[in-house]
Amino acid sequence: MTNSFLTGQVLQGQRALVTGGSSGIGAGIARALGAAGAKVVVNYRRSQEEAHRVVNDIKTDGGDAIAIQADVSKQDEVEAMFAAMYDRYGSIDILINNAGMQWDESFLDMTLEQWHKVLDVNLTGQFICAQLAAREFVRRGISPDLSVSAGKIICISSVHETIPWAGHVNYAASKGGLMMFMKTIAQELAHMKIRVNGIAPGAIRTRINRSAWETPEAEADLLTLIPYERIGEPADIGRAAVWLASDASEYITGETLFIDGGMTLYPGFREGG
Ligand code: BGC
Repeated sequence: MTNSFLTGQVLQGQRALVTGGSSGIGAGIARALGAAGAKVVVNYRRSQEEAHRVVNDIKTDGGDAIAIQADVSKQDEVEAMFAAMYDRYGSIDILINNAGMQWDESFLDMTLEQWHKVLDVNLTGQFICAQLAAREFVRRGISPDLSVSAGKIICISSVHETIPWAGHVNYAASKGGLMMFMKTIAQELAHMKIRVNGIAPGAIRTRINRSAWETPEAEADLLTLIPYERIGEPADIGRAAVWLASDASEYITGETLFIDGGMTLYPGFREGG
């Protein structure tokens, strides 16, 4: 895709942390940020090999990246990750709060462990990372040579922050909570020139939803939910994340950008209603 905005290295020199950056949407965002000139920390929990692949791809493209292991739901591990990032790059300008998981179960059968685990990673993990990043933005203030803002946080949510999802109450509740988390800290931090926004992807072709697209039947079913009639790719999210992290979107804070091929347009109402 030709896009002078992206080839213009709009994030030149900015330091970005992408949680869960080793695969799926996170990897797509890490690659896009790297191509836009950011120095990228690719966080991973278990998949060291995949994280190194993303790092190597960014470097091969002429960018700068490192991989750092941490479980985002563990405060001590996250603190160590931020310390390692500051050792290498000095500070942080962009946090992409992306790490997330599903552990699906019907409501009637869901265990408390399933509930807690998904809330811990998807919601508490974003709290821990955002708080550390925001404290650093406040401590450091604006670096005018890098950005007009003191820092940017992008919370990767889901269309399920608004679409209820039977069989996934832990996940949908975590994303609904994330929406108010994002808006509340955006309101609280705006006067310090810190921007906080959300991206709500629809069905993006990654491991998390493999069963929804891996057979032709499943894919056909999924496409009935997507007016634009294609499944999203991680690069669709990466391009938007670059823009939302850049000064081109300076006046936007507390917003969720839905990137879903129209999934939230109630496609069942195209006919009828
Ligand atoms: C979920 C995917 C799902 C998509 C659309 C995402 O947030 O992680 O599993 O395909 O929403 O329903």
